[in-house]
Amino acid sequence: MKILIATDKPFAPVAVSGIREVVENAGYELALLEGYTDNSQLLEAVTDVDAMIIRSDKATKEVIEAAQKLKIIVRAGAGYDNIDLSAATEKGVVAMNTPGQNSNAVAELALGMMVYAARGLFNGKAGSELKGKTLGIHAYGNVGKLVGYIAKGFGMNIAAFDPFVSAEAIESDGVKVYNSVEEIYSNCEYISLHIPANDKTKNSINYELLSKMPKGATLVNTARKEVVSEADLMKLMNDRTDFKYVSDIAPNNAEELLNTFAGRVYFTPKKMGAQTQEANVNAGIAAANQIVNFLENGDTTFKVN
Ligand code: 3PG
Repeated sequence: MKILIATDKPFAPVAVSGIREVVENAGYELALLEGYTDNSQLLEAVTDVDAMIIRSDKATKEVIEAAQKLKIIVRAGAGYDNIDLSAATEKGVVAMNTPGQNSNAVAELALGMMVYAARGLFNGKAGSELKGKTLGIHAYGNVGKLVGYIAKGFGMNIAAFDPFVSAEAIESDGVKVYNSVEEIYSNCEYISLHIPANDKTKNSINYELLSKMPKGATLVNTARKEVVSEADLMKLMNDRTDFKYVSDIAPNNAEELLNTFAGRVYFTPKKMGAQTQEANVNAGIAAANQIVNFLENGDTTFKVN
């Protein structure tokens, strides 16, 4: 069996060694395609592999069809919007993610970005503190929960909105529950996004919603760029000179936003939420173990298609 790691944004070397150990202990061969610059390299690398581990790399229909022997593809991470699930299902390929494995890294970055925004993007002028401010966590999954946990240490008041998590579960963490998305945006000075990108959520963070946020509001996005309407964000920031947007995923209109609203917007140079050694090791090795368990025992825990 041949397992391919295909990562445009490479894992830390320690994670690759860990994956190699799992793969070779199972008697399989490991192939590595890192930092590739063209999709043709990916198409060539997948031709003879039985399984593959990816990050945000795009597993399109074309890639899945080029991988003639592919049985399983694991997204070492949470969001699997980069996998064409129907193409995978059609070809009988199991798709999985590794939920929770890189969450702490993303949560820490979300708090870091909040501090950065509160301190005027480190401009040295008098900024503000997170203590006593209200943080709304939009989607209380693995990352959202950790963001709440860490933010409590800053003395923030934490609230969450997540129709897929029971109110009891959220409240038992000492987090206030809002029952509508409008309510949480209306009541929170900071909103941290942790929703996946899908047909329902794309462009759902729109003008109407953002304009409900209190004066001096900050939107923090460590989720996906597609969930925020770019045109609406532009309009909102024009209308609201108090509004800040910090994101780990630069939108398509990043340059225009940066030029027009300097000091109120910030984008990391490359998506780096999950880019820690720890997260790479956790997610990468979990992916390798999931592949071995599937190929050896037919274990489909974490299957998403
Ligand atoms: C995820 O969905 O797990 C995160 O967005 C991390 O993505 P990355 O592996 O491309 O850094």
